[in-house]
Amino acid sequence: MNKTGVLYAGKAKTVHTTEDPELLVLEFRNDTSAFDGEKIEQLERKGQVNNEFNAFIMQALQQAGINTHFVKALSPTESLVRNMKMIPVECVVRNRAAGSLVRRLGVAEGEILDPPVFEFFLKDDARHDPMINESHIATFGWATAAEVTRMKELTLAVNAVLKKLFADGGLLLVDYKLEFGRFNGEILLGDEFSPDGCRLWDAQTLEKMDKDRFRQDLGHVIESYEEVGRRIGVQFS
Ligand code: TMP
Ligand code: ASP
Repeated sequence: MNKTGVLYAGKAKTVHTTEDPELLVLEFRNDTSAFDGEKIEQLERKGQVNNEFNAFIMQALQQAGINTHFVKALSPTESLVRNMKMIPVECVVRNRAAGSLVRRLGVAEGEILDPPVFEFFLKDDARHDPMINESHIATFGWATAAEVTRMKELTLAVNAVLKKLFADGGLLLVDYKLEFGRFNGEILLGDEFSPDGCRLWDAQTLEKMDKDRFRQDLGHVIESYEEVGRRIGVQFS
């Protein structure tokens, strides 16, 4: 599938148009950003590691019956996806307390959250992705009530599949962020699932193995992403 132009360049990925208006190419770059783009660095091999990690997870989710935009990997750093109308809302599920939940509510990092916490954030870096609720989504028309219900349902279905997949690799899925889009009247999972958009801790030592290593300058960022991948069965090229 030939790329015909750049549709959008995000912080870590570039979205290319193709000859088919229903398909896009996602190019995973080495750029790594945190704090809504305040901290940006290039990490060698990150584009490839996240593209291959994401392809593995998207395929696992498809096999579990969760429809995603993913079509196939095209190269070490590129994947073909369906061209969706993105919903500007981020869906976050938390199985353990970490990150902004700890800062907002003062709960202890690592506290088990049962039932898991579900949160919506508005995708708006300039405003630091403010937390929103269903009332904001309805009033401002970001998604319909049926779409909100579907996004919650799919986000929690992903939790069941991925908690188990990571647990089998000796990892705790602490939290994660998903984005959805519309395609032919259906809501599909979009964006990516990689250690850039979730928290994963070693189940025994509770060592952080995700983008918090970059945010908190803990070192060995990509090595940890690869270790997570290897533990769940990703075959890196
Ligand atoms: P938070 O603790 O910063 O609110 O993030 C919760 C989870 O969602 C964490 O795994 C990081 C992910 N996330 C993103 O990847 N991008 C975002 O813009 C936000 C708000 C969260
Ligand atoms: N993904 C956001 C950013 O790149 C937030 C974060 O990961 O800290 O800035």
